[in-house]
Amino acid sequence: MAISKTLADELEKRRSVALAGGGEAKTEARHAKGKMTARERLMALFTQGTFQEYGLHAQHATRHFGMADKSIPTDAVVCGTGFIDGRPVAGFSQDFSVVGGSLGEIHAKKICHTLDHAVKAGVPVIGFNDSGGARIQEGVGALSAYGQVFYRNVQLSGVVPQISVIAGPCAGGAAYSPALTDFIIMTRHNAEMFICGPEVIRAVTGQITTMAEIGSAEAHASVAGNIHFIAEDDAHAVAIVHRLLSFLPSNNMMDPPHRIEPDLSVADDPVLDDIVPEDSKVPFDCRKVIERLADGGDYLEVMPSFAANIVIAFGRIGGVVVGFVSNQPTVKAGTLDIDASDKAARFVRFCNVFNIPLVTLVDVPGFLPGVQEERRGIIRHGAKMLFAYASATVPKITVIMRKAYGGAYLAMCSQDLGADRVLAWPTAEIAVMGAEGAVNILYKRDLEQADDRKAKSKELADEYREEFASPYLSAGKLFVSDIIQPRQTRSAIALTLRGLLSKRETRPPKKHGNIPL
Ligand code: HXC
Repeated sequence: MAISKTLADELEKRRSVALAGGGEAKTEARHAKGKMTARERLMALFTQGTFQEYGLHAQHATRHFGMADKSIPTDAVVCGTGFIDGRPVAGFSQDFSVVGGSLGEIHAKKICHTLDHAVKAGVPVIGFNDSGGARIQEGVGALSAYGQVFYRNVQLSGVVPQISVIAGPCAGGAAYSPALTDFIIMTRHNAEMFICGPEVIRAVTGQITTMAEIGSAEAHASVAGNIHFIAEDDAHAVAIVHRLLSFLPSNNMMDPPHRIEPDLSVADDPVLDDIVPEDSKVPFDCRKVIERLADGGDYLEVMPSFAANIVIAFGRIGGVVVGFVSNQPTVKAGTLDIDASDKAARFVRFCNVFNIPLVTLVDVPGFLPGVQEERRGIIRHGAKMLFAYASATVPKITVIMRKAYGGAYLAMCSQDLGADRVLAWPTAEIAVMGAEGAVNILYKRDLEQADDRKAKSKELADEYREEFASPYLSAGKLFVSDIIQPRQTRSAIALTLRGLLSKRETRPPKKHGNIPL
């Protein structure tokens, strides 16, 4: 018996109303601003024909103050599952064209269901944020609903990758959901994220500011460090999600998508011999080294504009997905400061929890000296790096390219912090502190009495480097596994990685460590 026409028509009518979201006029207005609709974002995200929606017919059953005649199609959020590059992924997308994408109880229930599905199925979850925040008409119920989303973001953390796209307003406490996820991508022109906007700041503190200064993608990417990537538009944001996922496992029980060929040989790369200047004071762009080490020169830099004195990136070496962490000598001489420590430590923890081996490239003169650094807590922040590396059990390979001084040497995954293999180049300088500093302490009187203090200081510093900072000294004491030519680095890392893929390291059972936050 076929379904009656009346019932079929009723379904189609309801479907088309829900699918229309805020309606044609609002869709056109969005397109005119270069924005996709909530649904179009998910369609661009998932492989065509693979999206299965959850809760198309959902909307808050009881009417609220001021909303008596208002329909809320999909309750302002499109949710479901689909496939990306053949892998299942969950996603939700807030619909600003329906009551400003505001979050009420049903809206949150749909997001929570999507997150619950992601953790059950062990699949990544992608969320498009475009919302006026808590639905005012639903009062404290909306607040509680946010709490339920936050709770799940935390439960999912370290189990499945969570990626947020900020593609519209994301205001007040709502910003804490994306902040709890692993990666945030923000569109450059149509998005804003803040806890207290310029009006509130002015009213409460008298400070005059602008959205560009506190809530724009640029501000978050370069000053606050809240986001990881800027996208030029929605389509670019989707492209970044796809690229990011190409390096990530679907969950913490899986390996990342390695592309391992049976052939073990990786050729030497003579270009590496010429990238790093022998004189440790001459800067070089560490991304050139990463580019030579990564298969096909293909790598994805994360947070490129924030704390640029450290570079973090995903890539593959000999087919094995790795997370690169490298000092960047062109910025602040590659020193570690508060922001660089936060950036690197969180990346190391992400890689560890998702089984991504770490390749650390070292050229670090030390922690950044400065009153502000000390007063803002460089001790607490720098400790995050030590904590993150020491607790990471994934394969850890460290390459000391040039300077590796003091506490910063340890913080860049020295052997003592659990590196499985430490390779040094002949240009490496490994010592308890920088040559100039050491000379000033050890030879204070000689320098005071010297006719030409500068020349004497240089002479002693050169001597110190030769005698105390030689990589052969460290290799002699087994702090370094081997000293290799730069050209051999790629093949050495590739072989080491292959040999470490089955690495298992157990630690004493505990609830969790207490990382200095
Ligand atoms: C209900 C909302 C809403 C909200 C927007 N709308 N925000 N409805 N609850 N939170 C509705 C508007 O009434 C309007 O409905 C439609 O969405 C579009 O909004 P506009 O203001 O016309 O759009 P625009 O000019 O683009 O401005 C966007 C905006 C602004 C900047 C986001 O709407 C705004 O400031 N909204 C309030 C943001 C806010 O303060 N949220 C905090 C709530 S408390 P019509 O029918 O006219 O189309 C909160 C606490 C959460 O979020 C804490 C969690 C821990």
